[in-house]
Amino acid sequence: MLDLLKSRVLYIIILVGSVIATFLVTALLVNIFERKEEGKNPFVQVVAIEEYETDPAVWGYNFPDQYDGWRHTKDNYGKTEFGGSEQRDKLSENPRLKILYAGYSFSIEYKEERGHGWALTDVVNIKRLGDTKPGTCMTCKSSDNVRMWHEMGPEKFYLTPMKDLLVHAKNPISCLNCHDSGTMEIRPANPAFLEAMKERNIDLSKASRQEMRTYACSQCHVEYYFESNEKPILHFPWKNGLTLDDIEKYYDEISFYDWVHPDSGTELIKIQHPEFEFWSTGIHSRSGVSCADCHMPFKRIGSQKISDHWVRSPLVNIAYSCQTCHRWDENELKERVLNIQRKTKKLIDQSELAIIDAINAIKSAKDAGVDNKSLEEARKLHRRAQLRWDFISSENSMGFHSSQEAARLLGEAIDFARQSQISAMKAMENKGKSVSSTVDKKGNIALPPFR
Ligand code: HEC
Ligand code: HEC
Ligand code: HEC
Ligand code: HEC
Repeated sequence: MLDLLKSRVLYIIILVGSVIATFLVTALLVNIFERKEEGKNPFVQVVAIEEYETDPAVWGYNFPDQYDGWRHTKDNYGKTEFGGSEQRDKLSENPRLKILYAGYSFSIEYKEERGHGWALTDVVNIKRLGDTKPGTCMTCKSSDNVRMWHEMGPEKFYLTPMKDLLVHAKNPISCLNCHDSGTMEIRPANPAFLEAMKERNIDLSKASRQEMRTYACSQCHVEYYFESNEKPILHFPWKNGLTLDDIEKYYDEISFYDWVHPDSGTELIKIQHPEFEFWSTGIHSRSGVSCADCHMPFKRIGSQKISDHWVRSPLVNIAYSCQTCHRWDENELKERVLNIQRKTKKLIDQSELAIIDAINAIKSAKDAGVDNKSLEEARKLHRRAQLRWDFISSENSMGFHSSQEAARLLGEAIDFARQSQISAMKAMENKGKSVSSTVDKKGNIALPPFR
């Protein structure tokens, strides 16, 4: 009796067991099959996207995961030590900027940048540009531009006041700025970028996929200039190459300046946001690491690998941004970045003090009646110093994208600024004017005490 019961129980166990096993194996096979299908069909085409579709929500029907990531570019995730998405007021954080940019609009308003989803709102709100902003100012802010460039041509776009273009612009930077809507390939659209690449004999149709993962960004994250105030046509100063030295040479060739500093009388240039040029001189660029590798790293959703479209500081996403290549732990990686950034900041501070001393020395000489010819050299040196400092200070990675280059340029900035200061003092001495107190009785020029 007991034996019979035992064998029955055994029978039931085996039966139930094999049913469960069959179920699991089937479920697994179905799952694998589904994932393979997902992998094969990276997206389901829900809607047909028109060639010049500017609204990211429409693209989002076909690519919900990328759209979802993109929507996060409106989130404020706070600040990192030197970056992040909080709109810090750079002028109140560092009042020295008001002296360095005196006479120019950046001394009135200068904020830390934030995510792409804010670009259009923020450019509309910039007070420093007033009501007369040309269309050019909208170039890097909206996907609607791409359609307008197609419809009216870039020149007319630039020459139309921004407030008139805004009537046709609803969307911030989004899909159409970076993608061809038909093939979904990366397709930089900014006409100034296309022109500059042509000038450098770089054929974008032959660019590798990895290069495109940088070119998607380098249509906007660059140094640029307007042809003139009357003709605000956008150009990139890349004719001689991408280093600051090449850019300086080009600006000198075309005698370009943005404004004249009211205290020193120097013709100066405001550097914009040369992330691409600066990155190009660094170790990651040299190793073939693109902007997207760190700022749009791959992440897994199901069996799919997609690019994280929440473009932001990699310091809040180190696991995906850095640890795919580097095996150091998160803290160590963060420390390595901060180590570069803090040292860069120190050199920036010293450059600013040196340049302000140069400005003051030139101003004292000018006020004492020293003529322009005698101050020419001091002003030339001031221009060179300020260009170098501004290149690193305005670039948004606080030295990280190319740490050695940052140190080189800031070292040069300090040197040129002190040379400028000395030159102004000498010009004053040559005219028999009393020299400022930084020169001792023997006529040796003592530098101001280290601050
Ligand atoms: C169409 C122009 C344009 C393109 C293309 C573009 N950017 Fe930007 N980017 C901007 C502007 C403008 C801002 C500042 C927006 C603001 O502050 O309102 C910005 C902001 C950023 C920020 C700061 C975000 C934050 O949270 O502080 C990062 C990082 C960034 N971009 C990286 C990239 C990368 C990487 C690419 C390429 C994959 C790229 N951008 C492509 C124009 C562009
Ligand atoms: C090796 C990784 C790496 C690469 C490659 C890289 N970046 Fe960065 N980027 C960083 C780090 C790290 C920071 C500093 C972030 C911070 O301070 O919060 C940064 C900062 C920035 C910022 C400012 C972000 C902020 O929070 O304010 C922008 C904009 C930016 N990078 C754009 C670019 C562009 C454009 C390229 C390509 C030309 C590029 N980056 C290439 C790692 C990288
Ligand atoms: C700032 C530029 C930029 C914007 C804006 C942008 N993308 Fe992308 N996108 C990229 C880059 C870079 C890649 C990676 C391409 C590669 O590796 O070849 C990518 C890849 C993709 C892919 C291929 C799969 C993947 O995730 O790698 C899809 C699909 C896509 N994006 C959809 C969108 C959609 C939808 C939008 C708007 C909601 C959008 N993208 C906005 C730059 C951008
Ligand atoms: C796609 C791969 C890749 C990614 C992603 C990447 N790196 Fe690197 N990184 C490299 C390579 C390659 C080097 C060059 C050193 C070498 O060849 O070993 C390097 C060098 C460095 C160095 C040394 C820099 C110097 O000046 O010598 C630091 C620090 C660094 N990476 C930090 C980071 C951080 C932080 C991130 C994320 C924001 C990051 N890397 C993302 C590949 C990568």
